[in-house]
Amino acid sequence: MRTGWLILSLCSVLLFLPETASAGPGGTAPPDPATEEAGAIRDVYWVALATSLVVLVLVEAALLLFVVRFRSRPETSPDVEGPQIHGNTRLEVVWTIAPAVALLGLAVFTLAKTPAVQGKRASAGGEVLRIRVEAHQFYWQYVYPGGAVSLDLLRLPLGRRVTLELVSFDVAHSWWVPELGGKLDAIPGKVNRLHFRPARAGVFRDGKCAEFCGIQHAVMATTVEVVEPRKFNAWISRLRQTQGSGTSNLGRQTYEAACAKCHGPEGEGDIGPQIAGSGTITNRTAMRRLLLEGQDTDAAESYMPPVGRGWPERQFEALLQYLRASTTLSGEKSRG
Ligand code: CUA
Repeated sequence: MRTGWLILSLCSVLLFLPETASAGPGGTAPPDPATEEAGAIRDVYWVALATSLVVLVLVEAALLLFVVRFRSRPETSPDVEGPQIHGNTRLEVVWTIAPAVALLGLAVFTLAKTPAVQGKRASAGGEVLRIRVEAHQFYWQYVYPGGAVSLDLLRLPLGRRVTLELVSFDVAHSWWVPELGGKLDAIPGKVNRLHFRPARAGVFRDGKCAEFCGIQHAVMATTVEVVEPRKFNAWISRLRQTQGSGTSNLGRQTYEAACAKCHGPEGEGDIGPQIAGSGTITNRTAMRRLLLEGQDTDAAESYMPPVGRGWPERQFEALLQYLRASTTLSGEKSRG
């Protein structure tokens, strides 16, 4: 009777596993892929999971069978020796070859899928849209052809081959938007390339930095919007034009991505000190130096990463303009 219950509970656990695995957002299954590359990752995931489940069921079933079949029985004295068995060639050959075949099968399948995962097909031929992805503590800056930039939000045209060129200005980060493919590290002094082709329009909000990079690693998120090519072209040319003429919201974007995550949305201070009302933020020379060099001395209490490295000139200007225009940040309000 007890054995019956044991088997029943084991079976329910086994039935429960695939349920939770496929439970979608928050579950352990990969999200709905929006590229062929992410689809290839999902295929490898399910094949590996299915293989593991088969092995789990076989091993656990054998274990249970042995526990029940060779349990101690009241009629047998506890000091009776069992039969002493040495070697069973057929059994040993089977338990050596079966796992080897399973592992080989998984390896061959994974290797065969690797070019698709890496977007090798997407990068071969055709016009490629190259976007520079600059990783910083603790935000992402996207540089489009022609020099327009966006922060933490990447827009891509539907159906076009994309190559992201990942670089870092401080420590190692990792760019990861699960619907679009695998993660790739951004490493200082190195350019890593990620290739894919968005095959489905949509807004993908689960982009993460997947490499622990410092105290605000958790808020280093990104969103990717895949839109119709016509909409993308209109957006990018407007962005180029407004950023070129200094009429875009680049200053606010920069503040929100590069400053607010540590100093608070109103500059009121968070893990970084309060900056609202500080004389430095309206001082052009001091600001430029702070943004480019950061703050990393024994004299200063807090560390600040050099968040402004790699910025085009107009981005410094846009941020300074934004800081000055904001009554809260520049301290105009408190001075009355
Ligand atoms: Cu950047 Cu974690």
